Amino acid sequence: MRLSLLLLLAVLFSAQLSCAQSARYAIIPKPTHLREQSGTFALPANLTITVSETDAQMRQVAELLAEQLGTATGRRPSIATGKRPAKQGIFFALNKKNKLGAEGYELRVTPKQVTITASEPQGLFYGMQSLLQLMPVEVFSPTPVAGVTWAVPCCTIEDQPRFAYRGMHLDVSRHFFSVDFVKKYIDLIALHKQNTFHWHLTDDQGWRIEIKKYPLLTQIGSKRDHTMVGRYADNKFDNKPYGGFYTQDEIRDVVAYAQKRFVTVVPEIEMPGHAMSVLAGYPALGSNPDKIVPVTGKWGVFEDVLFPREQTFQFEEDVLTEVMDLFPSKYIHIGGDECPKVQWKESRFCQELMRKEGLKDEHELQSYFIRRIDKFITSKGRRMIGWDEILEGGLSPNATVMSWRGTEGGLAAARQNHDAIMTPGDFCYLDKYQADPKTQPITIGGLLTTEKAYSYEPVPDSLTTAQAKHIIGVQGNVWTEYMIIPEYVEYMVFPRAVALAEVGWTPKKDKEYADFNRRLDVHKKRLDLLNVNYFGAPINDKFTYQWPVETKK
Ligand code: ACM
Repeated sequence: MRLSLLLLLAVLFSAQLSCAQSARYAIIPKPTHLREQSGTFALPANLTITVSETDAQMRQVAELLAEQLGTATGRRPSIATGKRPAKQGIFFALNKKNKLGAEGYELRVTPKQVTITASEPQGLFYGMQSLLQLMPVEVFSPTPVAGVTWAVPCCTIEDQPRFAYRGMHLDVSRHFFSVDFVKKYIDLIALHKQNTFHWHLTDDQGWRIEIKKYPLLTQIGSKRDHTMVGRYADNKFDNKPYGGFYTQDEIRDVVAYAQKRFVTVVPEIEMPGHAMSVLAGYPALGSNPDKIVPVTGKWGVFEDVLFPREQTFQFEEDVLTEVMDLFPSKYIHIGGDECPKVQWKESRFCQELMRKEGLKDEHELQSYFIRRIDKFITSKGRRMIGWDEILEGGLSPNATVMSWRGTEGGLAAARQNHDAIMTPGDFCYLDKYQADPKTQPITIGGLLTTEKAYSYEPVPDSLTTAQAKHIIGVQGNVWTEYMIIPEYVEYMVFPRAVALAEVGWTPKKDKEYADFNRRLDVHKKRLDLLNVNYFGAPINDKFTYQWPVETKK
């Protein structure tokens, strides 16, 4: 009887470990195991952060922590290297035997010290993010805050992510965003323990990356004469030239910035559709070398696409060679979505090629295109990602599928033993309304609340265990037709991206919306200090809901 009572208590206690965090703790995404303990660790005036090894990445994590603590408290901690923590100090230790994987970490807070242990610096970085979220929210302040008791509630955390790929996407073609904003976006990705920034660099409305071998891509392809304003149905345009692109130096700077924060930047170079900005400068890669193709300022899907000519493959290989030099990412995204086949159907060249290659329709011709690109990318030791249309006409041997038109594409890929990243529109498209449209700035349409985003389960029961392993992660997509300024991007992205971050990190059994919402209330105060214009932020009142949206101030 006594034994069963003890067992019951043990079960209840362990259940509590995976349930709601009490008010002293508000970590997002929710850690897999958090044991709450009484007492606090008080930050001393002369705090030392000790790192266990002479390791550049480890040191960088300590530097980032020192920088943030220094900024908010006004007292920058010192950093030391050694096998023992300083008295009343913070200790980062690498332990290759740690069983929590490359991204996992253990965080112990006692009244005497804070210890973060991980097998890799990336795990230490995530341990550091959790530590910051255990501190008073003012630790996120950009200037020193007086009158705060800088203390950390005691606890033991063992934590690791559910999915290996936890991404956020940003379209910089429809609207262009500065390097500074991109860095802020990356900071916010890292804050939420997401590890991938999918940078949508090219589309019909603008080519945004300098390619040395093809200067017209930016000289012509990065500019447009006008842009749609207001609702799509109104078909109204401004008369303002619009443009922008990132130089290769700027790209390198962003990639290095992201690397320091353990964010991989996956570039997307769209083909064979969404390519008007290519054809504007290089029309010979399309249906007709004499055709004038503008960089369009209209939204949608267009019939002018790249043709599967040898010249086009040479072009793509040259472009991808420069892209792969700039981006060390394993994955290279080649788009592959929404490629109308009208021009291919009408082309003698395309029909002839299909006959020669034994391709039964234009979908197979698109597969032929994508397979050749896959072969090239794979030959360079990288892996290709494409939107789910690349399944049509047969999946290329090494492709990873990004499922956006619902979940079926991702599931079909998994059933074919291909990896898939889930970004279904109903749950992951952060360009939809998040409340009654009458109260909101214009969006593309649809409705996705934070609660719905939070409810997303990327692995349906219909997959076998082996197939389920091919669902490698989840991503929020941010298409910017209507997001004309950074504040508007932030408004649309947050807090829905915070919900998706927890979908990507926290086991399904530990997720609970009411508990998330309580932690989100605290987290919003952090976002306020980080000057993030999230939906519902107090600073929203400076943000007009009328079109055109002017700058906030
Ligand atoms: C997409 O939204 N066209 C991938």
